[in-house]
Amino acid sequence: MNRLIRRALLAALFALLLAACGQATPMDSFAPAGPEAHRILDLTTPVFIIAGVIFLLVEAAIVFAVWKFRDRGDGVEPKQIHGNNRLELIWTIIPALILAGVAIPTVKAVVDLTTRPSGGLEVKVTGHQWWFEFQYPDQDITTGTVLVIPVGTPVDLEMTSADVVHSFWVPRLAGKRDVIPGQTTYLKLQSDEIGEYWGQCAEFCGLGHANMRIRVQVVSQQDFDAWVADQEQPAVEPADGTPAAAGKDLFLNKGCTSCHVIDGVSDSAQVVAPNLTHIASRDVIAGGSLNFTEDDLKAWLANPPAMKPGSYMPNLHLSSDDIDSLIAYLETLK
Ligand code: CUA
Repeated sequence: MNRLIRRALLAALFALLLAACGQATPMDSFAPAGPEAHRILDLTTPVFIIAGVIFLLVEAAIVFAVWKFRDRGDGVEPKQIHGNNRLELIWTIIPALILAGVAIPTVKAVVDLTTRPSGGLEVKVTGHQWWFEFQYPDQDITTGTVLVIPVGTPVDLEMTSADVVHSFWVPRLAGKRDVIPGQTTYLKLQSDEIGEYWGQCAEFCGLGHANMRIRVQVVSQQDFDAWVADQEQPAVEPADGTPAAAGKDLFLNKGCTSCHVIDGVSDSAQVVAPNLTHIASRDVIAGGSLNFTEDDLKAWLANPPAMKPGSYMPNLHLSSDDIDSLIAYLETLK
């Protein structure tokens, strides 16, 4: 019976493992969509094959030795040996050559993908607990969580952190790089396919770490230009007497302005929360853990720390009328 359960558990575990490989996942580094991610996969695949062959050879040798030299019960002591210069040289030199063969292209790729870049679309990335801020210095745009880039264009990320160590990782577009307070790190990234790509903070950074995501939206150059033109506009002013105007009043009077910037409406000396000037142009909120939908916004505004544990946005104990007005205002901020 025990054995049966054990076998069933093993089979279930194996099925789970296979299921993980089976379908396309949004953060699949085996499905690269740009040159940087391709380069990493082109390193991973041969290294994995080399390591796999060595693993099989070593395991086969162990199994063979265990079988061949097993205790046959005849009480005969096997021949005792000590030292073999030729063998020891072989098993030192061959692994050293393999490691050098792996190390040289790996180090070269790491340097190429992370040195200070030049010429691409420049985006400054700032890690915050628990969301990523994106600034486009040439376009004078600030946004959060959603990184919009044009297809087929090299992007130079210049990254730092406002608090603790984070790590920027969009597996289908680039490798993983730490985002460190007081330092600037660089990462190149490019997508050759229009679409959406998910990323995730890859360094444990506190309670909200698991909900610190990145959504990269890759669009045509034309759509990117249109997006830039929209983002450069000041926030939309709601018409008097509308629910959105009531929402704006609440925004100004409920304390939202001490953390959130809306260009032309509120300013904050220190960035602690996402810029909301064009929040309605983003399809996710709360570090990418919730969608920009009425249901999610309601749940979020009613009790942010309940939706995203650790969130620095406090529960403001808003009435449901207040929440409706605020949502009406936020939805105008396209
Ligand atoms: Cu930021 Cu984990």
